Amino acid sequence: TNRTFTMIKPDAMKNGHAGAILDKIIKSGFRIVALKQTKLTEEKAGEFYAVHKARPFYGELVEFMSSGVIIAAILEKDNAVADFRTLIGATDPSKADEGTIRKLFATSVGENAVHGSDSDENAKIEGDFFFSGLEQF
Ligand code: GTP
Ligand code: MG
Repeated sequence: TNRTFTMIKPDAMKNGHAGAILDKIIKSGFRIVALKQTKLTEEKAGEFYAVHKARPFYGELVEFMSSGVIIAAILEKDNAVADFRTLIGATDPSKADEGTIRKLFATSVGENAVHGSDSDENAKIEGDFFFSGLEQF
């Protein structure tokens, strides 16, 4: 499909980068389908990242993602999933390309400013986690 899902993570929210990140996303050709500011409980963060349950950083990830407000959004563009992952750059900002969102705004591999879905299937699951069908224009 032509949609992906993103979150602006608590580090970028606290550091005041939300506006600049949204500006970059829009200027890169993504249309905002749905958007909200919200806060994940530890339980909801654990559910969202359940695929990473066995990874050593799972506890840290859940704690971090529930540590402050986030912005959740569904985005639309041709080739959305792959193009958005190119725009955000590598998971570890020290390895991210110049000009990518993580290179510009992330703090560390854990506190890396933004999430981007890794497949069309997960984009749909993750968008539905935050938005009802009626909110997805
Ligand atoms: P997302 O778009 O957030 O899914 O990132 P990703 O697809 O680039 O990375 P991945 O799905 O492998 O990991 C999910 C998230 O877990 C990352 O974005 C980081 O926030 C966190 N994470 C990954 N590796 C590490 C790590 O080694 N240490 C810590 N503390 N967090 C990590
Ligand atoms: Mg991922």
